[in-house]
Amino acid sequence: MSNTRELYDQYIIPTYGRFDLRLARGRGSEIWDEDGKRYLDFGAGIAVTSIGHAHPRVVRVMQEQIGTLVHTSNLYYTRPQGVLAERLCRLVARPGKVFFCNSGAEANEALYKLARKFGNESTGGPRIGIVTMLGSFHGRTLGGISATGQDKVKKGFEPMVEGFRHVPFNDTAALTAAVAEKGTVAILIEPVQGESGIHPASADFLRTARRLCDEKNLLLFFDEVQCGLGRTGDWCGWRSIAPDVEPDAVSWAKGIAGGFPLGAIWVSDRTVAFSDGTTKPLCDLLGPGTHGTTFGGTPLVCVGANEVLAVIEEEGMLANARALGAHALDVLRAIATPLIKEVRGVGLMLGIELAPDFATRAKLPEGKVPALFLVERLHEAGLLTIPSGTHALRWLPPLNVRREEIEEAAAILERTLAAL
Ligand SMILES: Cc1ncc(COP(=O)(O)O)c(C=O)c1O
Repeated sequence: MSNTRELYDQYIIPTYGRFDLRLARGRGSEIWDEDGKRYLDFGAGIAVTSIGHAHPRVVRVMQEQIGTLVHTSNLYYTRPQGVLAERLCRLVARPGKVFFCNSGAEANEALYKLARKFGNESTGGPRIGIVTMLGSFHGRTLGGISATGQDKVKKGFEPMVEGFRHVPFNDTAALTAAVAEKGTVAILIEPVQGESGIHPASADFLRTARRLCDEKNLLLFFDEVQCGLGRTGDWCGWRSIAPDVEPDAVSWAKGIAGGFPLGAIWVSDRTVAFSDGTTKPLCDLLGPGTHGTTFGGTPLVCVGANEVLAVIEEEGMLANARALGAHALDVLRAIATPLIKEVRGVGLMLGIELAPDFATRAKLPEGKVPALFLVERLHEAGLLTIPSGTHALRWLPPLNVRREEIEEAAAILERTLAAL
């Protein structure tokens, strides 16, 4: 019988450069490999297992729901989907509606289609231009790589989907100039960029985006796939930065169901005027037959997501994310080493930027990428973290991570860096 690694080598299409870890089970912020070695899981998938592995409340409701009703199709009504949508609208705290799908890329696709429908049918159309940010990440579908402001995801897959343009993140002048171009219909922003190594938007940038959308009848979209639903210490990531700014629509995935595949968008009920003189709430623009997905919002995954979000609420995990995020920043910044250039973050979205001369200082083998090298040394020492580009690591632990676990992880990082 082949071992796990051999099965992958022979049968899995090699789209991922994987680390040589074979993980078998988890509990809370801890995970064990097939040989029984323990790691602190400070990647949580990639910001996915928001309440840690195998939370007993989620295990119980999912087990019960599996034996009750897993799937029906969206031709019918099932209570868990309605209840979850109500909860999400309550968390956004503004009138609107939700559409369920399966992933972050798919949630963003729904936003692009909403923008097209709005741009083609509302007054002032047709318009299809969506402005996104350099360094952003919006998923791996054709629409997703077109929206993403990084050349590396587009390479080999040209031509891109029409209509997307990128401007430097947090550059209000560039954003103002970009939306002035004819045919612009929406702005899409990650309030905290994740894949690029944790870069928060400035409050001024988010406010400028809102103002431009109001002035020019554009839609403001926030991609909260990585930063939403508690990760920053607020249900809405943008409110950790600019609580006075409100988007027209938001996308979620990753942590929404603690590891079960679910994506969603929330769309506001703001009134849209059409060229024929009629009006309609924005959240009713994608009407029957315009969009759909077989697995979106099944009773099983919605029961799981409802429980995950209830656990975050009832166990005070937003406050924990804020307090332990601040503590993590303190302990990481206290590590005295020339190998770290900067530590930054919002809540439990933390980025550790390595020194530009890390490779020479740590005497890395020729061609070795510093972030990957350090992530592998940390694996040996029992800590999982997520690399970003060549010189940054992300800490994205579960929202119920404990103080002792933050300190243990920081001690592992400090020891590992000292040994270099
Ligand atoms: C901000 C953001 N948007 C979208 C995506 C794509 O999500 P998915 O991988 O679920 O399609 C990601 C994934 O990393 C993300 O970080």
